[in-house]
Amino acid sequence: MAIDPNFDENREVVDSHEGHDVWGPVDEPETQGIHGTHVAVDFDVCIADGACVEDCPVDVFEWVDTPGHPESERKADPANEIQCIDCMLCVDVCPVDAIDVDSSR
Ligand code: F3S
Ligand code: F3S
Ligand code: ZN
Repeated sequence: MAIDPNFDENREVVDSHEGHDVWGPVDEPETQGIHGTHVAVDFDVCIADGACVEDCPVDVFEWVDTPGHPESERKADPANEIQCIDCMLCVDVCPVDAIDVDSSR
């Protein structure tokens, strides 16, 4: 299942991580929630393909380990979402539609 593009209406911020929001529910290790707001990655959808990490021209993403998660044991964290230039490459290349980028949030 892809990331919900209306996650900011349907979820609540439950934590912060490396300066960005984490949208719940979170129940580790199986349920990790969505990291980031402008560049949002649904950790429960991400399968650690890595295309976003490789292709982002301004290096928004950094790997974080998520041992015990059923989909993958690492995730692309939007650690530098503030640097995003809205090129949308990450949204296009993610094979499981785990990323949503919205310039209005
Ligand atoms: Fe990078 Fe995606 Fe923004 S590729 S520049 S995080 S739209
Ligand atoms: Fe994950 Fe998609 Fe990136 S599967 S590592 S968010 S390309
Ligand atoms: Zn994070």
